[in-house]
Amino acid sequence: MIKDSHIVLGITGSIAAYKGADLASKLTQGGAIVDVVMTKAACELIRPMTFKALTNRPIHTDMWDVAHEGISHIELAKAADAVLIAPASADFIAKLAYGLADDILSATVLATRSPIVIAPAMNVNMYENSITQENIQKLKDRGFIFIEPAEGHLACGDVGRGKLADVEDIIGEMHKIIGRSGPMAGKKVVVTAGGTREPIDSVRFISNLSSGKMGYAIAEAARDQGANVVLVTSSQIKCPAGIEPVHVQTALEMRDAVHKACKDADAIIMAAAVADYHLETPFKNKIKKKSATLDLNLVRTPDIIAEVKGDLVKIGFAAESEDINKNAKAKLKKKGLDLIVANDVTQDAWGFGSEYNKVTLIDPEGNVNEYPVMTKRKVADLILDWLTSSPKWVK
Ligand code: CTP
Repeated sequence: MIKDSHIVLGITGSIAAYKGADLASKLTQGGAIVDVVMTKAACELIRPMTFKALTNRPIHTDMWDVAHEGISHIELAKAADAVLIAPASADFIAKLAYGLADDILSATVLATRSPIVIAPAMNVNMYENSITQENIQKLKDRGFIFIEPAEGHLACGDVGRGKLADVEDIIGEMHKIIGRSGPMAGKKVVVTAGGTREPIDSVRFISNLSSGKMGYAIAEAARDQGANVVLVTSSQIKCPAGIEPVHVQTALEMRDAVHKACKDADAIIMAAAVADYHLETPFKNKIKKKSATLDLNLVRTPDIIAEVKGDLVKIGFAAESEDINKNAKAKLKKKGLDLIVANDVTQDAWGFGSEYNKVTLIDPEGNVNEYPVMTKRKVADLILDWLTSSPKWVK
């Protein structure tokens, strides 16, 4: 959704201005048209030419530029799908809170009707100062969206909250905001990811090779199309911005989280590799190696997706190493799914841990669509294309 969207990126006088270059670059690489608007203070910290080279667009620094034929701040304000100010200094936030418009960036903000996203970055004392906090609250009350700064070592030597949020998190948030009017807007999608961990004793567990990448790609793709996404994950990968994570470890924890999240969901996409067996009662202490062999009494875990009831669309995966389509069709039927995504997990070039996957989509009507190897993100888009055009979703 961010592709071809028009983002006005405001850079203000914070030492984190250099991180704005990374933002400009990544948004441009994502296909957005990025118009950078810089305050005078920002130009002291980083040169406009950096942004010009990264965005391949003219850079706006002066409201009184006679060489420009139109009225820059009004043109920018109207064209924007979103205005992002990152980094936003304490001074600039104060300016916005009072509706001042004496430079090209503040005038653009005042003139736009698009969502305005602010990512503050400043010294911890400046951030925590009640004046700044009051200004932030004032803007939040007016509908400005804030991306909280992170805690850590600040350029001034202090330690505390004030670091610009992670560039990846800011980009994730922008995807969500731009996607708000997408085809999945107003819908709730539950996605699962990762291999579950079933404890044996206090230090050991049974798990599998699933990295969680496929589920995360689906969660991001659904977010980008405007869905409210709940990601039930046993993976160690950081949850992308704009997605609600529910961290679990075991199949039973995943089952509880999925059932809770599915109560008001429109779809469940179960990409997790759930353990089929677990120890009903794991050993409390570390097992000592007393004998030559060790018998573990494993019992079946519940089939989470088969148990999900209700009118939501159910999509499962079939991890197969032989008779792929035949086994996948049997699972589709047995689990009462609307779609199964079959994949061959014997190939290193795709599947577990890889950025790629090769899938076949099979539905209960007997349609079998086999696809070539593609990135997991492309597979995610395919699945969501199927989902958003399925009769159960459209109804
Ligand atoms: N699944 C589930 N609960 C389980 C096991 C699997 O919800 N206890 C889901 C998976 O997330 C996946 C689908 O069911 O969407 C198929 O999982 P897969 O591991 O391929 O098959 P299993 O049902 O476990 O059968 P088998 O291991 O015998 O192939």
